[in-house]
Amino acid sequence: MTTTQRGPSLTDPAVADPGGWSAWLGPPVLGTTLDGSPAWYVTRAQDVRFVLSDARLRTSPVGDRSVRDAVLAQLGVSEEVARPLTDSILDAGGVEHTRLRKLVSRAFTVRRVTDVLPHVQRIVDGLLDGLGTRAELVEARAYPLPSAVICELVGVPAADQAVWLRWGESVMTMTDLSATFTEMTESVHALIAARRRDPAGDLVTALVQARDEGDRLSDAEMSSLIATLLIGGHETTTHLITNSVLAVLGHPEQLARLRRDPTGWPAAVHELMRLFSPVHVIRVRYAVEDVEVGGVTIPAGAVVQPVLAAANRDAADRPDPERFDVARQAGRRGEGHVGFGYGIHRCLGAALAREEAAVTLSSLFGRFPELRLDGDPVRTARPGMARVARLPVRTH
Ligand code: HEM
Repeated sequence: MTTTQRGPSLTDPAVADPGGWSAWLGPPVLGTTLDGSPAWYVTRAQDVRFVLSDARLRTSPVGDRSVRDAVLAQLGVSEEVARPLTDSILDAGGVEHTRLRKLVSRAFTVRRVTDVLPHVQRIVDGLLDGLGTRAELVEARAYPLPSAVICELVGVPAADQAVWLRWGESVMTMTDLSATFTEMTESVHALIAARRRDPAGDLVTALVQARDEGDRLSDAEMSSLIATLLIGGHETTTHLITNSVLAVLGHPEQLARLRRDPTGWPAAVHELMRLFSPVHVIRVRYAVEDVEVGGVTIPAGAVVQPVLAAANRDAADRPDPERFDVARQAGRRGEGHVGFGYGIHRCLGAALAREEAAVTLSSLFGRFPELRLDGDPVRTARPGMARVARLPVRTH
């Protein structure tokens, strides 16, 4: 099978439109993934949940065929440069993943997330204080917030926060990756060394201590973990916030409901994540053996591409899935979507991301009741991601 393969492709410009994904709902179908090689697209909610929880489908390659390495090679990034950061918790499976996740969860506690929440409100308030009558929301407000929060949580010194913003952008836009990976690795190693010498109350210290007490996390594991948190926790949350602002402004009747009852924001964030999450597709899975998914046999060694954006629009999971209803999840248990993944790799930072989005959105719309668009937003296309690059608004 070659690039002449028909079927869905992540490089198809149509995938930039999240609404378009629902048309792909159906049994697994063979298409092409980012490096042009064949991949089975899995779209239905039940099939996605199955794929993400069956041990026969794993995140690390079967044999030496790694889609990610192929994509990185196409972008001129050598394995040696990428490996220290890309070999992360997401690549681990089975007992190795359980061990890593347990250690990280011990450091990344509910308490630590709760402790950072007052900072979230403080950072949001500070950012909104400076918002003029006309503003560009991405650069000015949405972008620095999650980075500041995650840097605070992890323990990145304030002076280094700007450079993490730049690295995050580089990773997301896949530009200058070689230099970025090298600089990030050096910075994370320096941070670990500093906290080992001089412990603080942050996550890096907690990871260092978890390792030193139980001798369980290697420096390499810590580096990739810290980089995963800093990058994974920044861009995604930024774009959830900006996608959400755009979505809510485009649905005045839903905004009116939230204005009448601002306590509805946390439930609204579930619905915003379901329909407007920036993450349309996640890391491919590799079939260790033949696996039947939704009535189709995926052969051993094949690549599977789970499509969260489609699964979240599956009518088998909820009625009228394309309807945006901020109260859909109100009073219900759970999130009601797979936007944060499912199974063993389900997002570690989901609670933090939800909280950041709820605090930011309720503060923004609460303080600026007349908030409206001031020109057309600019979207940037990256396969599998929905991002707004510029979001001009008027606040008064
Ligand atoms: C709106 C914001 C976010 C979205 C949409 C998001 C989405 C996801 C998804 C879909 C996965 C599963 C990937 C897979 O199975 O291939 C994931 C995993 C992960 N996320 Fe997030 N994430 C967000 C924010 C965060 C934050 C704030 C953090 C950290 C502070 C974080 C850390 C992680 C980590 C460490 C994993 C890997 C977990 C594992 O392999 O066990 N994420 N995220």
